[in-house]
Formats: sequence, C-alpha cells, structure tokens
Amino acid sequence: MLEVTGLQKKYKEKTVFENVTLQMKPGEIVGLVGENGAGKSTLLELLATVMQPTLGEIELEGFSYTDGFKTIRRLIGYVPQDIAVWEEFTVEENMQFFEKLSWKKHTKEECRQLCVDMQLTQWKEEVRSLSGGMKRKLNLAISLLNDPVLLLLDEPTVGIDLKSKIEIGSYLHNLAKSDGKMIMYTSHDMDEITTLCDRVYSIGKDPFYMDLLTKNEIAVEQLK
Ligand SMILES: Nc1ncnc2c1ncn2[C@@H]1O[C@H](COP(=O)(O)OP(=O)(O)OP(=O)(O)O)[C@@H](O)[C@H]1O
Ligand SMILES: [Mg+2]
Repeated sequence: MLEVTGLQKKYKEKTVFENVTLQMKPGEIVGLVGENGAGKSTLLELLATVMQPTLGEIELEGFSYTDGFKTIRRLIGYVPQDIAVWEEFTVEENMQFFEKLSWKKHTKEECRQLCVDMQLTQWKEEVRSLSGGMKRKLNLAISLLNDPVLLLLDEPTVGIDLKSKIEIGSYLHNLAKSDGKMIMYTSHDMDEITTLCDRVYSIGKDPFYMDLLTKNEIAVEQLK
C-alpha cells in the first residue's frame, strides 16, 4: 500500500504541485499523465527517494519516508526518464553491477532472464553500441532486480518497438496481477495508458487529459 498525503514540491520560488494526495493498492497499475512540465517526473522522483518534498507525507507498506530511506529503497524499483546505465559496460556487466547493489540476490542466469523478459537479448554487447530502445529495456530489467513492491516507471517505453512494448506491457500486467506489485507509470502514449492502467491520475493545470480520459470512460482523478 502506498499513501501520499498533502505532498508539496517547490524548486526555490517555483511550486510544481501544492497538495498531492493519492493511494495505491497491491496489484494496481496506475497511470500518471499531464503536459510537459506538469510535475510527473518530480512526483516519481519524490516517491523514488531521489528528492525530498517541501511538505507532506509518503508511506509505503506502513514505512514512513520521514523515518529514513533504507527500508523504503528495498521496496522500490525506478526507471528514470533519462536512461541511467553504464555505457562502457556490457549488458551482462551492467546487470551484475546492479545485482550487487540490490538487496535481492540473483544468479547470472536469472539476471539474463530478466533481460530476456524485457525483450533484450544482447547480453554480451557494450551498452554504448545499443539502440535507445534497447538501453531502456536494460533500465527496466535493472529496476526489477530488487523484486520491488512499488515500481515507478517514468516514460519507460519511449523508443521501444511496438512488439516489445506489447510483450513488456503483458509482463508488467502479470507482475501486478499475479504478484501484487504496484506500478506507477507515466507515458505520453494514451493507447498504452488506457490499455495497461487500471486507473489514471492527471497532474497539471491543463484539463485536456481529464476531459479526454473521462470521454473515453477511463477512471481518472485530478491531482492538485
Ligand atoms: N531541478 C529543477 N530545478 C528547477 N526546476 C525544476 C527542476 N526539475 C524540474 N523543474 C521544473 O518543475 C516542473 C515539473 O517538471 P517535471 O520534469 O516533473 O515535469 P514532467 O511532467 O515530468 O514533464 P515531461 O512530460 O516533459 O517529462 C517544470 O516546470 C520544470 O521546469
Ligand atoms: Mg518527465
């Protein structure tokens, strides 16, 4: 269970959002949509413990973020909007590096299988020689190493080919529905959002997303 109450984030004088309150239950895939600059990445960064809010409370599985991040970070998987992998390492070396940082231990074969699950088979290739979509698949595989309770995905499928997108979508769906993971997902691809997500939060001032989703009878709630 994720509970966010009265979250505010300011960058100096600039208020990105004032009073975000939301909840997620095990097994839910929740979309986060909004115009460029609405605050989607900022909200995910706060949930991922990359930044701290100006005000407000976050609780995950009963653990409060204000009591420290040690336990929280074991429960989270995060794919940032900007790909974060080691360019000069191979896929294998990247997976082994991040596996060492992960609290959950995996064999080399299990690491390779996570990549295959993300439709990435270039195990021995250097990351700098991979395409943008392949790097993103690697970032997704890395985020799963922790076996996270909460998976935070910031535009994870940008540049990923359609077939892989569908396969990854079905893998994520299974993670939520069979294993009870919570997945928060941002994307500018409305088809992807409406196919994958159980419900959606709209963030930002533009009513466009609320109107569009409501018209399409998708459960949507506006965040402040
Ligand atoms: N480090 C920072 N310092 C100052 N302002 C920032 C910083 N990071 C983000 N912002 C501002 O916060 C607002 C929200 O940015 P954010 O990246 O969260 O938006 P977003 O919804 O993810 O947009 P996009 O769809 O383009 O990814 C923007 O106005 C942005 O300029
Ligand atoms: Mg963003």
